[in-house]
Amino acid sequence: MTAITRRSLLKGTLATAVAAGVCPSRLWAQAVEPRPLPIPELIDARRQGNALALRAETGRTAFFPGRASATRGFNGSYLGPTLRIHQGDEVELAVTNAMPDATAVHWHGLLVPAESDGGPHQPVEPGSTWRPRIRVDQPGATLWYHAHVHGDTARQVYEGLAGMLLLADEAKERDLGLPSEYGVDDIPLVLQDKLFEDGRLVYPVHPLFMMQGVRGATVLVNGAANPVARVPAGLVRLRLLNGANARVFDLSFSDGRTFHWIASDAGLLERPVERRSLWLAPGERAELLVDFSDGRATALRTGPDPTLARGMMGEMGMMGMGGRAEPLDAAASILALEPRPRYRNAPPVRVPDRLVELERVNPAKAVRRRQLRLTMGCCGMEGGGMEHGMARGGMEPGMMGRGMGPPGGGMMGRGMGMRGMFGINGRPFELERIDLTVRFGDTEIWEVSGDAMPHPFHIHGVHFEVLSRAGSPPTIADQGMKDTVLVQERVELLVRFDWPAVNAPFVYHCHILEHEEGGQMGQYKTV
Ligand code: C2O
Ligand code: CU
Repeated sequence: MTAITRRSLLKGTLATAVAAGVCPSRLWAQAVEPRPLPIPELIDARRQGNALALRAETGRTAFFPGRASATRGFNGSYLGPTLRIHQGDEVELAVTNAMPDATAVHWHGLLVPAESDGGPHQPVEPGSTWRPRIRVDQPGATLWYHAHVHGDTARQVYEGLAGMLLLADEAKERDLGLPSEYGVDDIPLVLQDKLFEDGRLVYPVHPLFMMQGVRGATVLVNGAANPVARVPAGLVRLRLLNGANARVFDLSFSDGRTFHWIASDAGLLERPVERRSLWLAPGERAELLVDFSDGRATALRTGPDPTLARGMMGEMGMMGMGGRAEPLDAAASILALEPRPRYRNAPPVRVPDRLVELERVNPAKAVRRRQLRLTMGCCGMEGGGMEHGMARGGMEPGMMGRGMGPPGGGMMGRGMGMRGMFGINGRPFELERIDLTVRFGDTEIWEVSGDAMPHPFHIHGVHFEVLSRAGSPPTIADQGMKDTVLVQERVELLVRFDWPAVNAPFVYHCHILEHEEGGQMGQYKTV
């Protein structure tokens, strides 16, 4: 009897697919051996005299054996180290640009004055170093850093310029007894979906991808396809970051087990919330406690993007790939989790009942209300319609022919092709225009809504609370302090402006990076 293993079967399928000239990345991902989950190197600022250095580089990364792709990374070829800074410290940051094109590096969720924020107003030219000096003054949280240069953010992040930034508040966290051994029972997970063609990373520039945001059928975790993590047979803390350009992940475990959600974007919740699934929109973070003391293997999985119509994703697959469709709307296991054997007399797992006392702002203190609508040229009330967007250099006829280009090159130059298609209240972003002025220290209510599809909305320089959704009290998933929120229906945000934007503005924008780049961004200063 011939033993046919699943692996040889898959390899056979792959060989057939390659021979036929059709090789969706799904096959590549299945054909590669499961590989241990890479854990980004941890650089703790306190062990470096509170001086941290990042170097943005171009490089090559083989996501699949023998298939190298042009990528970017910090201190390496793809993604960056996990930086850990501590509440109360002064930290010197240095960002060196060793790439041939300009960049900017934003500390997403970190509260610092606007000139240290790393947005489009702090470009780092090739060969130069940007040195912001910051004072860390906010609760412990899972933050991140990523490229944010004017006109080239989407591609640079897609190609790898992102990493985790952990803010530790040890005094507060110690008593809670949360798992905190980095990479062992406190595990960073950078989730990103990517599009591969014959095993090589591609950044599609077809107008449909630009409209919907770039998505792909392969989900990488910390840069790896098909990863497996060995975890202790006890309580494990997963720090999740949605580092995708556009996809919303609908996360759960393959065996349906529950977990405790303990932290949102800006830090711990008041109490753990037991759940079975959780959505994570681009830019958002969540910390989970998962109990593996039963010793059973499971997998972290994502459902199809819950914010997109299934038909649309099928169509995108077809058009974007020149007919070689990728199943963009499928559910997938993205990380296998295998507990190590449990040692005898292991202590029972304990999830604290209370986490923190949140410092809430009183909504009655709000002095102003503003309406912001995330508009799309095609559907906006004030955007001037599709023709307006196209007339401003949006979709040129030449773009329609080819669906994609290799990373690093690009027929659309620096992703500017959709500029003018997107805006806020109908106005596309302009670097030299200040859209709003807020009074330093004021509390405001921002009513945010959007055209055509859900948009993850992020404000720099603040943390906010969600006050309502579609006129009703927010759902349980909206609790805690946030810096990014998925706007499906009108949301009201309670925002206090405690960080100065005097020498430079702070931006606010949709975190679908193709939308941001297309102009769905504005900026404010404080007076
Ligand atoms: Cu995560 Cu303005 O960015
Ligand atoms: Cu958007």
